[in-house]
Amino acid sequence: MKFLILCALFAIASADFLSVEQAETLRETWNKIKHNEVDILYSIFKAYPDIQAKFPKFAGKDLDSIKGSADFALHATRIVSFISEVISLSGNKANAPAIETLVTKLGVEHKDRGVTKDQFNEFRTAITNYASSHATWGDNVAAVWNQALDNVYTIIFSQL
Ligand code: HEM
Repeated sequence: MKFLILCALFAIASADFLSVEQAETLRETWNKIKHNEVDILYSIFKAYPDIQAKFPKFAGKDLDSIKGSADFALHATRIVSFISEVISLSGNKANAPAIETLVTKLGVEHKDRGVTKDQFNEFRTAITNYASSHATWGDNVAAVWNQALDNVYTIIFSQL
């Protein structure tokens, strides 16, 4: 009985972490799209203009006109680099505290800017749509992608 309880506890605890295989699947998927920084940010703003409106540099501007600007490229690169960093740390439990620290900071900074849970969910929908239409996709990839986002969003939402 004690053994079963321990197993159950372990299963719950490990749901927060990606296995080595899951992390490998995630990296393969991310590697297919991570060089499309500008395109990714464009698709997020296009689907959800309220996200674009939160950016002082982009609010009220025509999306197709700002897409080619240095500011747009800079922000797109910041977002993609952040995600790349978290993904590179995933699949190794020893890195869990580092992920927690990075993502908590992101949550705190975005709370300070007034970003809401709904907007984070919009961001999630948009980037998932982008990935599923630009990388090799299937049930297994979708499950890993969603697990990874659930893990990160649990940390972010605890700060909002
Ligand atoms: C998981 C989703 C997101 C990631 C990974 C992300 C990532 C980042 C990063 C790395 C930065 C630059 C560092 C910083 O100042 O914190 C940043 C800044 C910012 N983010 Fe996000 N972000 C996300 C979601 C959102 C959403 C949903 C909104 C708005 C609705 C938003 C609005 C902003 C704004 C306004 C800035 C400041 C831009 C500036 O300095 O002019 N972010 N974000």
